[in-house]
Amino acid sequence: MRIDKYLSNAGLASRSEIKCFFKDKRVTVNDQLVIQAKRQIDPNKDIIKVDNIVIQYKPYHYFVLNKPKGYVSANDDDKYPTVMKFFASLNIKGLTHVGRLDKDTTGVLLITNNGKLAHFLISPKSNVKKVYSLTVDKDLDASLVEAFKQGVKLENNEVCRPAKLTIKNAREATLELTEGKYHQVKRMMRAFHYEVIALHRDEFASLTIQNCEPGEYYELDEKQIKMLEQYLR
Ligand code: URA
Repeated sequence: MRIDKYLSNAGLASRSEIKCFFKDKRVTVNDQLVIQAKRQIDPNKDIIKVDNIVIQYKPYHYFVLNKPKGYVSANDDDKYPTVMKFFASLNIKGLTHVGRLDKDTTGVLLITNNGKLAHFLISPKSNVKKVYSLTVDKDLDASLVEAFKQGVKLENNEVCRPAKLTIKNAREATLELTEGKYHQVKRMMRAFHYEVIALHRDEFASLTIQNCEPGEYYELDEKQIKMLEQYLR
């Protein structure tokens, strides 16, 4: 494998920045300086360092994006910017979003190139917990809490799994779901004649936005990746 590809895979920097690493004499293989980006290496044997720090080969990458409003959950779109725009400079092959948030929804969106895990996480059997904060167009009725617990019937007669609605104030609530139907939160509220006017995902499989501002992301640590891998069983 070419060493520049190896470094790009590690998600260290963009391709053009990685080129400069070689010019600036920051890269070594087995403690020997390397100035050629096309130098071949064996990821299983060679020890690659940048600035004297060992760079591990990573087959998979995992990020949590705090999705801003106005971005669509898609890899490409003719009309709107996509959530993948934030990751373009990393040049990681196969990186995609796990499930979708609507264009006007903000909050936690998992991004990975581990297709198998992504598939499991969005499958209805996975029971991944999602927590949303929502604002509606009129005052919430206390009876909704019990109705959501019983399972809301959508406009197409599909019945949702029991969900936990917690009313925070007149027009704001949090909603805990273990499934991810298309526009589910908005459709559940619409079943009771409410329009959702703001929607934010606080949690997906226990992952939160941490300190990220809209449009910022963080990379998952080992513990968080292990937690996600439990869904593979
Ligand atoms: N439910 C919705 O209605 N929209 C989202 O973006 C996510 C869940």
